Formats: sequence, structure tokens, C-alpha cells
Amino acid sequence: MSADEMDRAAMLSVLLALIYSRINTVLKAQSMDDKLWCVCENTHTCEDGTCNGDMCFFTLVHGQKVKGCFDKEQREQCYVPRITGLYAECCNSNYCNFNLTAPGDDKKVEPYVPESVIMLVAVPLFVLLVLSITVCGLVLWLRSRRPHQHLQEHEPSMLKMPSGGDPTYGDIFDEFCTSGSGTGLPYLVQRTMARQISLVECVGKGRYGEVWRGTWMGESVAVKIFSSRDEQSWFRETEIYNTVQLRHENILGFIASDMTSKNSSTQLWLVTHFHELGSLYDFLQYSTLDPEGCLRMCLSVASGLVHLHTEILSTQGKPAIAHRDLKSRNILVKRNGQCCIADLGLAVIHSQSNDYLDVGNNPRVGTKRYMAPEVLDESIRVDVFESYKQTDIWALGLVLWEITRRTIVNGIVEEYRLPFFDVVPSDPSFEEMKKVVCVDQYRPCLHNRLHSHPILSTIAKIMKECWFQSPSARLTALRVRKTLAKLDQDQDSSTDKLKLDV
Ligand code: ADE
Repeated sequence: MSADEMDRAAMLSVLLALIYSRINTVLKAQSMDDKLWCVCENTHTCEDGTCNGDMCFFTLVHGQKVKGCFDKEQREQCYVPRITGLYAECCNSNYCNFNLTAPGDDKKVEPYVPESVIMLVAVPLFVLLVLSITVCGLVLWLRSRRPHQHLQEHEPSMLKMPSGGDPTYGDIFDEFCTSGSGTGLPYLVQRTMARQISLVECVGKGRYGEVWRGTWMGESVAVKIFSSRDEQSWFRETEIYNTVQLRHENILGFIASDMTSKNSSTQLWLVTHFHELGSLYDFLQYSTLDPEGCLRMCLSVASGLVHLHTEILSTQGKPAIAHRDLKSRNILVKRNGQCCIADLGLAVIHSQSNDYLDVGNNPRVGTKRYMAPEVLDESIRVDVFESYKQTDIWALGLVLWEITRRTIVNGIVEEYRLPFFDVVPSDPSFEEMKKVVCVDQYRPCLHNRLHSHPILSTIAKIMKECWFQSPSARLTALRVRKTLAKLDQDQDSSTDKLKLDV
């Protein structure tokens, strides 16, 4: 390279160096313009009490206050865990950390929360909240539009269908109840079944609510719809059927319980087996019995009551239960001439082995017409389980009396009547019943014809022994059942003997 060329190259590099340093100065000044001016204190980088950075900070570390500037990369240091002795706060305007102090100092300054953090946390949270509210609202709206009767078309069944056809509730019970606790179907299955029921006709109405015949998979079921004022009975009956093994041919068979909301009111359903002959009260209005039929019915009611009253000690056992509202309206007639006991809404539960008495909290009381003397004169020992069984026996005697009135003996039968029909008006008051039962110690009349028949005379004797004024003198359900069962056996063996003779 010539000397000239070397001079030109040197000049060019000086020029380039000058341009580079100029550009650098301009860029630096520009970046300084983007930065904030902050107060600085107690940092080794602090000159003249000010610094330049992306944000201003104030920290307090074990009593040592520090103020200064942070770059973007130091942003995390603005967020320290909430531990005693540690505090950090950032802000993003010129000298904004001038007034920053630790909490507890007089002046409260709002902590610095970068906008990006608001965008990252608050916005998704808000969107999530709006979405959840929308989904909940939609679900509630859809459910409120679905009455029980119409679910059959819309709700896919969660129940397994056995191959070769629709399941009966017998199939469903076999599927669930032979393996589990033995107390019935799981709640979700009960709910699903209840919502697949179509209500067909109302078969009963009263203060308790209504009873409907419904169909489930083509089979008839009974649906008791509780009035809102009797919701405690629904809770009690549901509780008992779901916790106690109550499968017995003389206790109304439970299928499902369901609670739904309809037009902002609660609907309480109890689904049970349907018995087309209706209640014993209904049946006795239009039917008469022969002595054998009478015995069969009386024995079945006593057997149902024995099952309720008896505590069974085994894995599939049950506590003792007293009914507290036994009457012909709460007994159903089955096609085989036996009866089954219904309505456990007032029942009390007792376990001697576990020293446990649960009287429930139902404000309802039993039916006045069927109340025992100790209930009417309020001398009943409410803390003793035995007392409740004794009141059931009083009522059992009255039910047997209703059945025997409709039994033909020597071609004679009486009209159907409610107990004490001859001494109190319909819907008698507590005082009217008390006068008859406790003061006058009146008892239902037993027709002479009963004494001329071996079955009916025995039943007449049983009735009288159910009506002793003294509760402890009354028969037990077990004794009633045994006596009736013996009558039934004698009946069978004499029929067999007759067949052999022929
Ligand atoms: N009335 C009340 N309960 C009933 C039932 N389970 N079946 C038929 N009629 C009834």
C-alpha cells in the first residue's frame, strides 16, 4: 500500500470511529429518555441520590431501607413473599419511590402492580368467572324445563339393560342390592329411575299429598308426592328405607326417593311397589272376607309389624322400628290376599345393642282416632322405645277389628266403619278421643257372631288383649303373630286331613 493510500485508510477509520461514537451517544441519550428517574438511597450504585431505570423500587430487608432503580430483568424482585421483615414495592413514574414506605408506616402507598400482571391474571380469571356463571345458568335453566314425566324421552338411561329386553326393577335390585349394603339402590340410580317415571293416574289424595300410579319401563309403580308441609315425613321415610334393610313381604317395597325443584318449589317423591287393590281402608269399603281370608290378612299385618319391631343382629341386620301411625289407610292389600305396611314417615328407630333411640324430629303426630290411651293422656314414656311398640299394638287391635267387621260368619257381616265411629265424629279432636278412650275407657264392640267361629273368636281375644289400658299388659306383635300362625297351621292341617279323608 502507498503512503497516500495509508493516509486515506487512517482517515476513513477515524471517520468511522467518529460516526460510531456519535451514533452511540445519540442511542444512549434516547434510551436514557425512555427510562425513569428514581430516588436512590443506601445502594452502592447510587450517585447524587438519583438513578435511571425501568422502574423505581423501595425495599425493606430486616429494618434496612433501600431505594433505587430496577431494570426490566429485575422485575421479579418487586414480588417478595409475605414474610415478616421483608417488604418490596415498585412503581413506574419519575421519582415515584420518593414517598414509598413499609406497611405500618403512616403513609399508605398502593403497591405497584404492573399492567402485564393484571392482564395475565385478572383477565383470565374474569373470563373464567363469566363462563362458569353462564354454564351454571344454562344447566339450571335446562333442568327447570324438564318435568319428571318427560324425562323418558330425553335422559339416556344409565342403567345397564340386560340382553333380551328392558330391565324390571327386580333386575335392577338384583344387580345392586345383592352385592352392596343391602339397603337398596344407590342414590344416583334411584334418581335416574324416578326421572324416567311417567305419572298415569292419581289414586289417592290427602293432607300428606298425593299418590299416583306411574309407569317405569312399562311396569306400574306407586309415586307418593309429599305436600311441602309434610317434608319431614319424606326425609324420615327416605332415611329409613335407605339405611335399614327392610325387604319383607309385609312391608311396602321401596324403589326410590327423589327430590327435585319445580317452579322454585321442592317436589318430594317416594317411589314404591304399586298394589292395585289399594289401601286396606279402600279394600274393606267394597269387599268382604271369609274367616280364612280374614286370618291371612291379620297374620300378614302382624308379620309386617313383627319385622318392624324386631332388632336383627347380623351383618344384614336391622334396628327395631316402631311405626307410630298404623291404621288401615297405611296398609296396602296385595293380590295374594296378604297386606303390607306403608308410611314410615313417623317411625322411631331403636338399637338395644348400640344403645340408640332415634325418635326423629317430625312435628307430625299419629292419627288421633288410632291413638293409644297413654298418648291421649300424655303419660307415655317418650324416652323408652318399648312405649312406641305398645302404641302400635293398640292400633293393630283396631285394624284387626276393622278386618273382622267385614268377615262373613254364619252369613252375617257388618258395614265398614272406622274405629270409634259410634262415639266420636269424623276428624275427632284430641279431647274427644281422650274422653272416649281414657275417661270412659270405651272399647270397640265385638259382634256376637265372632264368638261362634274358632278363627274369629281367637282374633277377638287378641284384639281385647291389644286394648289393655296398661301398655305393658298388651300383647307383643310376636305373640299376636305366633297365635295367628298357629291358627293358620291348624287350619291347613285340618284342610289336609279333610282332603285325605275324601
Ligand atoms: N296408595 C298408597 N300407596 C299405594 C301403593 N303403593 N299402591 C297402590 N295404592 C297406593
